[in-house]
Amino acid sequence: MSRVAIVTGGTRGIGEAISLALRDMGYTVAANYAGNDAKAQAFTDATGIAAFKWDVGDHQACLDGVAAVAEALGPVDIVVNNAGITRDGVLAKMSFDDWNEVMRINLGGCFNMAKASFGGMRERGWGRIVNIGSINGQAGQYGQVNYAAAKSGIHGFTKALAQEGAKYGVTVNAIAPGYIDTDMVAAVPAPVLEKIVAKIPVGRLGQASEIARGVAFLCSDAAGFVTGSTLSINGGQHMY
Ligand code: CAA
Repeated sequence: MSRVAIVTGGTRGIGEAISLALRDMGYTVAANYAGNDAKAQAFTDATGIAAFKWDVGDHQACLDGVAAVAEALGPVDIVVNNAGITRDGVLAKMSFDDWNEVMRINLGGCFNMAKASFGGMRERGWGRIVNIGSINGQAGQYGQVNYAAAKSGIHGFTKALAQEGAKYGVTVNAIAPGYIDTDMVAAVPAPVLEKIVAKIPVGRLGQASEIARGVAFLCSDAAGFVTGSTLSINGGQHMY
């Protein structure tokens, strides 16, 4: 039986590319999504990958969602915590809700999904958790105290959980993408984005597939000695 992987936020953007890459490795993939039913249906129709709807910021929904995937497809061996949102704004204009929602979904989602899946991986003696951080969690970013804090938190969470998983064959790693050609980055005001791209040594935005290839490696058997690490894929924008 092939291994089962859940990709949160797995029907769009970087998550969609990750779902496809893991499927192409022979894994059985469940793509989680939170809101866009039409896009999720179109994704399933096009790829044959099952989509499962729940909010990763909701603790109980994650416990129930992972149980539903296990019931439908088998025990969950791989979790890619990719789901995330932005609520950008300078601190003076950022509401408590903007802060809280980003922490709840981006960072809380990693905790919730790990609580739902880590025990089973440990019992079976094999598991892969890959958390999608960000260059902006490493370097900070003007107008993103919420997002930068959540993503920076993901990098700490990764290193802590990696220590707990190591002796059970469960690796926990992070990828820190730079600016990738997705709807999220397209929402950055054009003049701001132009200045950002001008500072990327490779001279362009990244492609979602370039992140997915890194995730695929970290989810493979070949990566069993890689744990607690962060792979930065950012076109040289931040060498960390
Ligand atoms: N550094 C220094 N100053 C900056 C700045 C920066 N990076 N960005 C903006 N400013 C300055 C502007 O020059 C402007 O200064 P003046 O008033 O003196 O002209 C001032 O800040 C206000 O700028 P805005 O007019 O843009 O203010 P705003 O309130 O309308 O918007 C903002 C602020 C929401 C932060 C907007 O600038 C923005 O969206 N910036 C992009 C933030 C960003 O990069 N987000 C990443 C999203 S993608 C992602 O997060 C994925 C990932 O992991 C990489």
